[in-house]
Amino acid sequence: MSERRHTLAKTASYEADPDEVGRVLLLYSGGLDTSVMLKWIQDEYDAEVVALTVNLGQPDEDYEVVKGKAVALGALECHVIDAREEFARDYVLPAIKANALYGGGYPLFTALGRPLIAKLAVEYAKQSGCDTIAHGCTGKGNDQVRIEATVATLAPEMKIIAPVRGWQMGREEEIEYARKHGIPVKGGTEAPPYSIDDNLWGRSSEGGPIEDLDEPPRDDVFELVTHPTKAPDMPEDVAVEFERGVPVALDGERLELVELLTRAGDLGRRHGVGIVDHIEDRIVGLKVRDIYEVPAAAIILPAHKELEKLTGTIHQNNFKPQLDTQWGFLVYAGLWHEPLLENLNAYMDSVSEQVTGTITMRLYKGSAVPVKRSSPNALYDKDLAGFGESGGLFSQQASPGFIELWSLQSRMAYRVRNRERKDT
Ligand code: ARG
Repeated sequence: MSERRHTLAKTASYEADPDEVGRVLLLYSGGLDTSVMLKWIQDEYDAEVVALTVNLGQPDEDYEVVKGKAVALGALECHVIDAREEFARDYVLPAIKANALYGGGYPLFTALGRPLIAKLAVEYAKQSGCDTIAHGCTGKGNDQVRIEATVATLAPEMKIIAPVRGWQMGREEEIEYARKHGIPVKGGTEAPPYSIDDNLWGRSSEGGPIEDLDEPPRDDVFELVTHPTKAPDMPEDVAVEFERGVPVALDGERLELVELLTRAGDLGRRHGVGIVDHIEDRIVGLKVRDIYEVPAAAIILPAHKELEKLTGTIHQNNFKPQLDTQWGFLVYAGLWHEPLLENLNAYMDSVSEQVTGTITMRLYKGSAVPVKRSSPNALYDKDLAGFGESGGLFSQQASPGFIELWSLQSRMAYRVRNRERKDT
């Protein structure tokens, strides 16, 4: 008689069997979840932990403190990577070219950061002899999708563990665990009311009182952007210069991308620019309300779009927004390595060839609007088109002929329908 086998099938190929886990690369932020995790993995899996902390331009982060904490909690080592330049150049820049705003309001800063963090996790896991990658995402959000999809694509042999998804600890239990294991808890037992994620392209707050849809956001959400009512009474103009779709200068001063985005962010913060109260469709089915503070994106994206309007033809300008939307969706949905995204990037780059010029944005108490435009490639050309005068490419004499043919089908249809109506 054959014995019945009770092997439990894994749900995903990359899920880790506890006895396969020898050394773990932990994506470490220094916060409560990942600090508890650092200890918990050593105990539960009897495994070694190497920590990795990625600097994507989170304001006011002290990476020496984060590193010290990781090592104190037993990490073999803690790598701190300054990935700001790569993030700006290879992730934020394509998003600018694609005018990326998911759901019409979210500039995707978190979604853009995850594939880079996951790529670095794979690199450092391999380099440090790790067989498993661990992250602190919950089972309810998009970030687990983005990180795991990227890791599984780049390193199919790598195992992934997501302890927060499985352990049955709430915040109270985590704090208790932390106390028991000598893990320092910032801010005491008072739960911070919001879940925060940030980098140089923006900051999000979720959870807590934000979940009450019938309440406006509380003032304590805003840590980045000045409340528009408290912003300066005088408007401020900033000229954003682009070369082939790339922002290269502010007010005539050429800047590296990280510096440019940081300065644009500082200007926006001061003027209350970039607050977005957003209802969003997560890729895992849930809806969520986010409060975003995106001062740099709220200046750079509309400036870029304005320049495209000036330099693109009517056909390009009608077509591209559809591709922009598709680009934003793929990135939101965590499919950074989907070939369609590469195809779309090629299109964006091709359009960007002509996107050179300067847009001046006026910042004033929460708004950022274009007030001046100039481009060597503008199709808005008074002399070339001969606006109203004779001699240019535009001919008013040709207008009636155009109108007659342009309206032909509509006029025919109108006539046919009226005939039918009369017949019955
Ligand atoms: N809703 C945004 C997104 O899905 C922001 C997520 C913020 N992440 C976080 N762990 N708090 O990209």
